[in-house]
Amino acid sequence: MYPDRVVSGMRPTGSMHLGHYHGALKNWIKMQSEQPCLFFVADWHALTTHYDDPSIIEKSTWDMLVDWLAAGIDPTQATLFIQSKIPEHAELHLLLSMATPLGWLERVPTYKDQIENLANRDLQTYGFLGYPLLQAADVLIYRASEVPVGDDQVPHVEMMREIARRFNHLYGKEKGFEEKAQDAVKKLGSKRAKLYNELRTAYQQEGDDAALEQAKAMLDDAQNLSMIDRERLFGYLEGARKLILVEPQAKLTEASRLPGLDGRKMSKSYGNAIALREDKDAVTKKIRTMPTDPARVRRTDPGEPERCPVWQFHVVYSDGPTQEWVQKGCKSAGIGCIECKQPVIDAIVKEQEPMHERAQPYLDDPSLVRAIVADGNEAARKLAQETMRDVREAMGLSYG
Ligand code: TRP
Ligand code: SF4
Repeated sequence: MYPDRVVSGMRPTGSMHLGHYHGALKNWIKMQSEQPCLFFVADWHALTTHYDDPSIIEKSTWDMLVDWLAAGIDPTQATLFIQSKIPEHAELHLLLSMATPLGWLERVPTYKDQIENLANRDLQTYGFLGYPLLQAADVLIYRASEVPVGDDQVPHVEMMREIARRFNHLYGKEKGFEEKAQDAVKKLGSKRAKLYNELRTAYQQEGDDAALEQAKAMLDDAQNLSMIDRERLFGYLEGARKLILVEPQAKLTEASRLPGLDGRKMSKSYGNAIALREDKDAVTKKIRTMPTDPARVRRTDPGEPERCPVWQFHVVYSDGPTQEWVQKGCKSAGIGCIECKQPVIDAIVKEQEPMHERAQPYLDDPSLVRAIVADGNEAARKLAQETMRDVREAMGLSYG
């Protein structure tokens, strides 16, 4: 119905680093030129864990937006906005909460994990339990088809699909739906109507997924249909229901994983991160002092790249011949660690140069960022309001 729309968000809980860049942002940048993309700052999600100290959220929000722009997110291609400026997300979250079984939320793996991992915070709250439901609202409100996320977030997207399905099941009934749908079929014209009915039967009676896809593609191309008839026909394909919310797919980031300087996950709180816009001298110093294979005590000791975090940086940053040079040189003690690190330093500095350049105008004049976000908020809000009209109507709330 809204082919290819992409929605994703990030929590503003601290500054962005190269782990975020290689793990997620690079993928966003690729998608923005291929599909309509909405990228947002999930500031309410940040509050679910930082409700007792919200002071960092505002600054992190603006810093993060500058980081996105510096990394190459292009506001003329993607829509950038801030979650809390679109109150419809909260309304949808509330309405979805009515019919969301508690067990679904308690069973999401990140729920218990996070409570254990962030033991210094009290996460036994209503808001934190609802985290994935708010996330579902973030995506369903734009009827997105794809959600680029890391693998830890896949269960959240699975739950969104269940939420959408349940919503359509509960509220997708429309009086006289069957007749209205059949009228809409007629409007396709006799040839396409016949094909539609055949494909619908093939899907419903034989579970032929290809037939479903073909029928959907046909509907996408059918120019003469009104929005509402189109929605009916999409719903009628899969059952006798109107589809109000669309089930999104997780789009796994085929990301290169860049660990932190000490080999653990890169994270500001571990003190092992390189900021997205770190300056050149700091990058050089951080890589120079980064730990190496602990077995390589002396320059003459051979090393093993698999045991060395520097090698993981070469995997991300170096070409084949350089990687071979590292492998051979390390194992034979032919090269020293400082020597080995230099190509990594050079590659990071080179990667970051255009980022510093792109960030500069926004640092000089922060009102530029405000203006980009104001436009994005407005565009996103329009889309969200369209969906909410349908949602309210389906739930019997369009009186008054
Ligand atoms: N939970 C996501 C994360 O921690 C952030 C997020 C919030 C999000 N809402 C979303 C991601 C909607 C994708 C879609 O990374
Ligand atoms: Fe690590 Fe390179 Fe030193 Fe080997 S030579 S231990 S890969 S830094």
